[in-house]
Amino acid sequence: MDFKKGDILAIGCDHGGFELKNAIIAHMNERGIEVKDFGTFDGASVDYPEIALKVTASVTSGEAKRGILVCGTGIGMSMAANKVKGIRAAVCTEHFSAKYTRLHNDANIMCLGGRVIGPGVACELADLFVDTEFEGGRHQRRVDMVMAIEEK
Ligand code: RB5
Repeated sequence: MDFKKGDILAIGCDHGGFELKNAIIAHMNERGIEVKDFGTFDGASVDYPEIALKVTASVTSGEAKRGILVCGTGIGMSMAANKVKGIRAAVCTEHFSAKYTRLHNDANIMCLGGRVIGPGVACELADLFVDTEFEGGRHQRRVDMVMAIEEK
């Protein structure tokens, strides 16, 4: 497990991801992983960029170790999150991508689609996201190259 005692997982969603977010929070609570929930807190329509900004700020400030964002597809959240300096957000719909975006990309945000996958798959993807350590090595150089694009 890559998350240690005291590490926080930030999480947020819009109305399209509300039920999936609750399922992930319940699962992480069962595992004893501390979650900070940035809303939304009901099914009323909200604008996903506002939630993406809150969760990414928690990660870039160091408050949270990583974050999960859920909208209808995961795509809007990932577009918003990847505009934030220091964020590497990946949309995941299956296990291989969830594992390798940690191993090779050191993703610090995972984006999920509440209208794309069910709670069973989502919780397993969340497990891979918190449990998988970045491999480093040659991948560090490539991640550094990606982050250097922010300065251009
Ligand atoms: C909201 O209807 C929907 O557009 C949003 O949840 C998300 O899928 C955007 O990418």
